Amino acid sequence: MQFCIALQFASNVRVPPLDGEFRLFMKYDKEIALRRTFAIISHPDAGKTTLTEKLLLFGGAIQVAGAVKSNKIKKHATSDFMEIERQRGISVATSVMSFEYDGTLINLLDTPGHKDFAEDTYRTLTAVDSVILVIDSVNGVEDQTRKLVEVCRMRDTPIIVFVNKLDRDGKFPFDLLDEIEKELKLSLHPLSWPINMGKEFKGVYNLYDSSLNLFTANQKSTEENTVPIPDLDDPILDAKIGERDADQLRDDVDLLQGVYGPLDEHKYLEAKICPVFFGSAVNNFGVKELLDTFIRVAPAPQGRDTDTRHVAPNEDKFTGFIFKIHANLDPRHRDRIAFLRVCSGRFSRNTYYKHTRLEKEVRFANPYSFLAREKDVIEEAFPGDVVGLFDTGTFKIGDTLTEGEKMQFTGIPVFSPEIFKELVNKDPMKTKQLEKGVNQLTDEGVAQLFTQHDGHRKIIGCVGELQFEVIQYRLLQEYGASCTFVPLSFYKACWVTGEKKALEDFMRFKQNNIMKDKDGNPVYLAQSEWFLNTERQNNPKIEFHFTSEFKTAMKD
Ligand code: G4P
Repeated sequence: MQFCIALQFASNVRVPPLDGEFRLFMKYDKEIALRRTFAIISHPDAGKTTLTEKLLLFGGAIQVAGAVKSNKIKKHATSDFMEIERQRGISVATSVMSFEYDGTLINLLDTPGHKDFAEDTYRTLTAVDSVILVIDSVNGVEDQTRKLVEVCRMRDTPIIVFVNKLDRDGKFPFDLLDEIEKELKLSLHPLSWPINMGKEFKGVYNLYDSSLNLFTANQKSTEENTVPIPDLDDPILDAKIGERDADQLRDDVDLLQGVYGPLDEHKYLEAKICPVFFGSAVNNFGVKELLDTFIRVAPAPQGRDTDTRHVAPNEDKFTGFIFKIHANLDPRHRDRIAFLRVCSGRFSRNTYYKHTRLEKEVRFANPYSFLAREKDVIEEAFPGDVVGLFDTGTFKIGDTLTEGEKMQFTGIPVFSPEIFKELVNKDPMKTKQLEKGVNQLTDEGVAQLFTQHDGHRKIIGCVGELQFEVIQYRLLQEYGASCTFVPLSFYKACWVTGEKKALEDFMRFKQNNIMKDKDGNPVYLAQSEWFLNTERQNNPKIEFHFTSEFKTAMKD
């Protein structure tokens, strides 16, 4: 079942008009072909950090195990702000990890483990071209997994599944595949198959290169541990894993080949099929196979949609968007780091680009890369790369940079928060500081701000309680403004659109529940699901959206 990869973007290459430009096209295609930009996602504790660390070890980006782990935000911290503060600084460094492996430049974008920062994860997923989804073989599909897969589905992001912790007694592999397929509505395609699990775990059979990988705890896959067995009837299989397990494997593989056949890579790239690997991250088992296959099959940097047209990665002109903003660790310095995903062309240092929302020219003297060993100012970057830009408050999430073309990248939606609280200013002398702080923090995407009465009433919407504590703490530390929060019992925020007159009537009628988001779009805050359904029935001309992604259409 050998498969090989063809370069995905060949179809994107336009016929260039001039010789000079032709060379440019060729150059970008090569740069694009070299890159893979992805994220690892999982429910907390499934093994994302451990897998990340092993990948970085393979890439030579870190030298010792534990380097990433010691940096991650404590998953169970609820109010240890100093810890959050400390980690914020470090997590800038670990937010994007770029390294080279086997001639491929890999950009691995980190996503926070804590569920209260889920919005941050969703936004990061807009900047990747594929994901590796880690599933704990003992726990199977968990809550966060469902949400994350939904977000991938919105953008048709190709997914490779890594079933982790085979060294523990988990669910039976066929049952697990069934569960993942049913619960996550994914079509799977196993590329490796485990031989037992827990104490009996003997290794995996690699279906794609017909080899047996024998399990030894805490070791890189070595040549001695990898035995090519193109014909499973070969008695060498019995010699390696024993007759009983060899027979079981033969039966399993027979079944798998009957059900799945060879992998159709196009279906993977179209996000219609997810290759599956089995292994044990903590034992570094199955990780190299995953990485080797990943760089072969995963998509190179892909194009992105804007409000005016689709942008292909190998267009000659630079475009990019901001998907994450990170506050400075040092409260005396308000500058922040904006994370730019390059979408097309070449980004160059000290060059003027158009900030399309503000319609102004911006230039960056010290853009930096996240290459592990040289966290340095860079001269240029290419599609798929993430560039760190020092920002003094000009950016908010979703902002677009171009060489002059007026466009805005889409597909960076804001989702309805789950907890709503009214912000009360405790120190009227510091009103200005509070306004500024709230504006900047919400630009960063820490929380969402909804306002009423010309901004005098402020409602903060978050995904988790922890974010409110972070806001309160940061407003005080960084802006000298103190506030409290009054809990409100809203269920969801829905962006509302519809025919002009119907919308105006609805907004007048429901004025107590209508707020404005930061862009001035009307949002209906529903007290409960029942209220929302009732309003839906009573107002057939109004559409209620749980994400902000329709925004442009609404402004028309
Ligand atoms: P996360 O980032 O997805 O939240 O998970 P993380 O890698 O932190 O892993 C969660 C726990 O699962 C860790 O144990 C980790 O060592 C363990 N783990 C990861 N991969 C495997 C595996 O293949 N097999 C087994 N048995 N365990 C695995 P911990 O006790 O929470 O942390 P630590 O004390 O090991 O650092």
